[in-house]
Formats: sequence, C-alpha cells, structure tokens
Amino acid sequence: MKKRSILFFPAITGLFIFLNFQLPAAFGQPLLKENIIASQINQADNLAQTPPMGWNSWNAFNTDITEQKIKDAAQAMVSSGMKAAGYEYINIDDAWMDTVRDAEGRLQADPKRFPHGIKALADYVHSLGLKIGIYESSGTKTCAGYPGSLHHEKTDAESFAKWGIDYLKLDNCYNENESYRKRYTEMEQSLLATGRPIVFSICEWGVKDPYQWAPSISNLWRTTGDISDNWNSMIDIVDQQVGLNKYAGPGHWNDPDMLEVGNGGMTNTEYETHFSMWAMLAAPLIAGNDLLHMTETTREILTNKDVIAVDQDPAGKEGYKITDNGNQEVWVKPLSDGSYAVLLLNRGEGRAFMTTTVEKIGLQKAASYKVVNLWEQGNSYRPKSYSTNDLIRSSVASHGVAMFRVSPE
Ligand code: GLA
Repeated sequence: MKKRSILFFPAITGLFIFLNFQLPAAFGQPLLKENIIASQINQADNLAQTPPMGWNSWNAFNTDITEQKIKDAAQAMVSSGMKAAGYEYINIDDAWMDTVRDAEGRLQADPKRFPHGIKALADYVHSLGLKIGIYESSGTKTCAGYPGSLHHEKTDAESFAKWGIDYLKLDNCYNENESYRKRYTEMEQSLLATGRPIVFSICEWGVKDPYQWAPSISNLWRTTGDISDNWNSMIDIVDQQVGLNKYAGPGHWNDPDMLEVGNGGMTNTEYETHFSMWAMLAAPLIAGNDLLHMTETTREILTNKDVIAVDQDPAGKEGYKITDNGNQEVWVKPLSDGSYAVLLLNRGEGRAFMTTTVEKIGLQKAASYKVVNLWEQGNSYRPKSYSTNDLIRSSVASHGVAMFRVSPE
C-alpha cells in the first residue's frame, strides 16, 4: 500500500488540519480515504509549550564530535543536576553524517565517529530519561559540507523518526536560492507525516524575517547569525531581539542562538548577563559548553532555578525593553502569577547605580511589593528579598545585571 500525506493549509489560529490520503495501489482506481489525524494536530501543538531546554554540540566541539562525546554530555546533564533543573534535549549538530548517502539514498552516520549509528545513541539518551535532537540543512549540503536534505525531506524525516529523534534543527546552507518557505514547509510536512512528535527548529539566521512565517510551521526560529563566545557578539544579538516579543508564545519561540556560558570567552559576570537575558527573552536554553568538564560556577549559572523559572514561565511572554539610556537598560517580562521579572542591564565599563519603579514596569497597584533578587552573589544563588512601595534599585557591575522577580504583597 502506498501512503501519501499532504498538509493542506495552516488554519487561522496556527492550528493545522492534516489530511491523510491512503491510496491502495491494488485498486485500479485509487480509493481516497480522507482522515483528519487529530493526534498529529495535537502533537504539533503540544510541543515546546515552554522554550526548549537542552544542550547542543556545536559551540563546544564544532565538527569534532563522536558518539562518546554525545554520551558524555548526556551523562553529565544528569549528574550535574541540569536534567533536574529542566534540561531535556541532547542535540547533535553538524558533522554526524557520513559524506555519502547509502545505496537506498538514506542518510547514515559517520561509521568511524558514530560506529553504533544514531538509533543506538538515541536509545542510550532515552534510557537516561532525556530526548535527542539532530541537525540537517535545507540545502544540498550542510554548512560543514555533508549531504543536505533538499529534495530528500521525506526520506530524511522518516530516518529521523525511525531512529527516535525528538528535535530537528534545520539549517540554511547551500539552499540553491530555492524558496525558504517551500524548503522549510516541505520538511515540516515530512516530519508531521511520520507521526512522531519532533520539535522543529528553523535555522535560517533571521535572513527572511522568519518570525513572519515560521511560527505556523515550526517551534522555534533563529533570529540572527551565529553567536560567538564574546561580549560584543552576545550583546549585539540582544539588540537584534528588540521588537520581536510579539511573535513568541507557547509552541513558537524566537531563537537568539545557543548559549556560550562556560566556553571561556566571557567573564562569569558576562555569562550571568547572557543567561539572564536569554531567560528574559523566553529563549531556548540550549547549553553549548563541554558539560563533562564545566566549572562549578558555570554549573551554578546554568542551573539557577529562579532564572530558569523566568524563562520557562507558562504564560510564554517574551520580555521587552522599557528604558534605555545608552549604557543602562531596563527589561521586563510579565509572568503568569501576576509578578514581573525585572532586569537592570549595565553595558557600561564602570559599576552603575540603577533604578526603576513598579509604576514604569506596569505592575498592578498594591500597597507594597516583594522584590526577590535572583542572582545573589556568592557560592550559592539563594535569592534574598526586600519590600518596596515603588523603587527597585541595585548597584550593577560593568557588563552585569541585577535580576528580580517583583510581585504585589
Ligand atoms: C550554521 C548554524 C550553526 C551551526 C553550523 C554547523 O552556521 O547557524 O548554528 O549549526 O551551521 O555547521
């Protein structure tokens, strides 16, 4: 029996009506069996209700990846407490493949570096209670030159589903100038047709205003070019997020790229800023450091549960900037319990005393407000709090943040 699946149209609310036509080849005239697959609509809709959390191999290892390194990362995600803090996906980035497809045209893992294949690795990651992601490109080759998925979408989606993949990052290299919508929709349809819930992460670097078209076909989309492990790159990406908050929400997120926390190119203060800003932006928290060899400070930054709670807030509202005087900015993020996350960012070269008020933030009127500091300095990040009737204040280190959760008392 030949089975063909067609995605018809994205309906008004971003839901998809997915019709499945089954064409039994045995009949002279194909019998059209129309069937709305409710479970697939739900799958597409239930994924990534909060920004995905996980790890990806690219920022730490580039193309130098092996089966062992991926397994080590998965083990370390559990033993470091990251899994308990909410991290879930172990994502293999570029260079996992063999340079050629197999005789049937299917992708295959590099036999030297991934000798047991992706299915065995997925089984291992799943056995730790984690999920696994993989990388491909919507062009003829991946950015590192391995076989791309363009015109192989159905075959590749089937391989991913068969291996037990839970998350696909689809890049934009070697795209032959074919329509971006067509390329990414083709893969989205192919993933849906497998029936396996697979988070779909679009990586087209923000080139064609993806927030305009990607929310209806993916769970997250990159909004910028690649992050580098330095302050200027990170803060430049923050600047490029201004105005995008209206496009994010449960199931569909702006992606300012993966984390560099712990990779060594920024100070710990700057990494706290990086992590805090990503949480304010409701960004995917995809760690990009070597989890097996991270310092205790890196681990503490990545597992700060109060900051993670801001990122993962179920209302799914992306934060936005309310004031900017050049070097000092105030960002806020409305949270589901009526409180607000408030972040004072000091981009200047010296320490700054910064203030804002509950009125400016837009909090509901109350006699007083509880201000919980989410980054108390020291070995452990236990919050300390104070009460205020209006002013929120802090001395903020150069390139640092003060981050609070403010709620009516
Ligand atoms: C592109 C992506 C990166 C990474 C590399 C892999 O540059 O934007 O995130 O996946 O390709 O080659």
